[in-house]
Amino acid sequence: MKPLHFFLLLSLAFLTFSFSIYLQPAIEAPAGSTDTALAAQGRLVWQKYNCQSCHQLYGLGGYLGPDLTNVYSAPGKGEAYIRAFLKAGVAPMPVFDLPEEEAAQLAAFLKAADASGSASPRDFIILPTGMTKRK
Ligand code: HEC
Repeated sequence: MKPLHFFLLLSLAFLTFSFSIYLQPAIEAPAGSTDTALAAQGRLVWQKYNCQSCHQLYGLGGYLGPDLTNVYSAPGKGEAYIRAFLKAGVAPMPVFDLPEEEAAQLAAFLKAADASGSASPRDFIILPTGMTKRK
């Protein structure tokens, strides 16, 4: 194969793949997403206490503690569980004795994060195009 043909073949493959990506439907926030003003304040609380240094959201963050994307809806967990962890702490996690207002904002933030999607790779399938789709 001549270099020019090879170049044209690669260009065509590139254009076809780029075009196919633009044919994918736009990603929309799942129904029931609760990104309210309270949750937006909770995001600031999350940042203020640097929870991300030890925890991940959507798999990104520090790896000392577990991913918290879906801690709100996980069986046996939820808001009371989150609050208990903040109040009591555990050996590697310091006690965060937050004022009630901040605790409620933080809980709303984790609720909104939970409603926005899933962090577990097991919840997704990989399509032949290389894109992922929720099961
Ligand atoms: C210094 C690291 C560190 C910081 C900072 C930290 N955590 Fe943790 N957290 C941990 C570790 C480690 C665990 C796991 C403890 C265990 O299961 O024994 C944990 C567990 C948790 C759990 C229970 C998760 C589960 O699925 O069981 C919640 C909820 C939680 N943390 C919330 C928070 C929030 C909210 C903040 C910020 C205010 C925060 N953490 C800051 C280290 C940290």
